[in-house]
Order: sequence, then structure tokens, then C-alpha cells
Amino acid sequence: MTDFLIAPSILSADFARLGEDVEKVLAAGADVIHFDVMDNHYVPNLTFGAPICQALRDYGITAPIDVHLMVKPVDRIIPDFAKAGADMITFHAEASDHIDRTLQLIKDHGMKAGLVFNPATPLHYLDYVMDKLDMILLMSVNPGFGGQSFIPSTLDKLRDVRARIDASGRDIRLEIDGGVKADNIAEIAQAGADMFVAGSAIFGQPDYKAAIDEMRTALAT
Ligand code: DX5
Ligand code: ZN
Repeated sequence: MTDFLIAPSILSADFARLGEDVEKVLAAGADVIHFDVMDNHYVPNLTFGAPICQALRDYGITAPIDVHLMVKPVDRIIPDFAKAGADMITFHAEASDHIDRTLQLIKDHGMKAGLVFNPATPLHYLDYVMDKLDMILLMSVNPGFGGQSFIPSTLDKLRDVRARIDASGRDIRLEIDGGVKADNIAEIAQAGADMFVAGSAIFGQPDYKAAIDEMRTALAT
């Protein structure tokens, strides 16, 4: 049986009460906290950086923090996130001029490393770096905003990546991000994902536990 990870995106959390909201979502059964870093340059939106990650650690959050960098350039802020207590970092293939170097930099800082693919980004970037990857994140919306609809062609892409991971024999997480909800999560899992980011479908609901339970029930069917 696959172990599925549910990773609520704090992009949809209450920023004025971030510590409490993250505590609440963890108590509701979240496995990982997904941390969307946007720079108003690589993507047309601006969010938060390493000091907020540090603030969550200082507040007492011990759960794994999954940093999704939507920034360009990438390398400069990787050491900052390592220092701030991040556990894993993913970055967009197009945002780094030296993908192998960026992956190595993340690993040299003791974190798990992964590549992100936008809906239309081809998978050939994977060709020579599979041995350096701990995770692969497929965007199922165009990055920049929460609350968008899942792009259906991502299901085929998931199947392609799942086949590559299985053929590699390596232990690589396949993360999906964008438009994930209780009513499509089972189909997404069947296509090969084993780590599910959900922003609006969890933080946008009045009862986080009910929202996460509904996803786990769908995953179990
Ligand atoms: C979009 C972000 C996502 C986003 C997902 O650029 O990477 O993590 O918060 O939000 P929902 O789940 O609302 O589509
Ligand atoms: Zn994300």
C-alpha cells in the first residue's frame, strides 16, 4: 500500500494567524506543510520568504516544511531556507540556469531536493538528474495563485512520470500541486501521485479535519 502524504498549502491560510492556523491543520491530520514562495518576477504574485519559515519553527511547528520556490534566480535563497528549518525544496526547471548545480546545492544543505514542472514544461529535464531527485512536483495549474481548476492533461503527465520513477527503481516522491480536491484526488492518485498539495480545498473549508478525512477516504477507495 502506498503511503500518501497530504500537504496543505499555507497560501490559503490566515496570514494574520499563521502559527495557529498551521497548528490547527496539523492537528487535523496534515502530514507536511507546503510553503509557496513567490517573487513577483518568476510568477505574477508575491508571498513570503525564509523569515516566515523561521517564524513557524520559532512558534513550535516541527512538521516537515516543503518549500516550493517560484522564484528566479533560485540559488541565492536556498541557504536561507536551510537555516530557517526547511526540510525539502523544489524549484522550477526553467528558473535555474544550472539545474544539476541547484539540486546539489539543496542536498549539500541537508534538504531533500526536487524539480517542478509547469503544465506545459516538457519532462526532458529529468533525463540526467534522476539520481539527484528526492521528489518531482507536477503543477496541475499555472503557478501563481491558489483556487484554480485542475488541468486534466496533467493526468497523462503523471502517468509518464510515474513510469519513469518506477523504471529508475529510486525512491522519489511524486507531488501534485493545483486544484486538488476530495472529488479528484482518487483519480490523481491512480495516475501515480503520492503527495498531494491542497490549499483552498483545506484552508478554504470551515472544518480542516473533515476536509482532510474526506481526502483520505477517497484515497482509500
Ligand atoms: C500555486 C501554488 C499552489 C496553490 C494550490 O502556484 O503552488 O500550492 O496554493 O492551491 P489550490 O489547492 O487552491 O489550487
Ligand atoms: Zn505550491
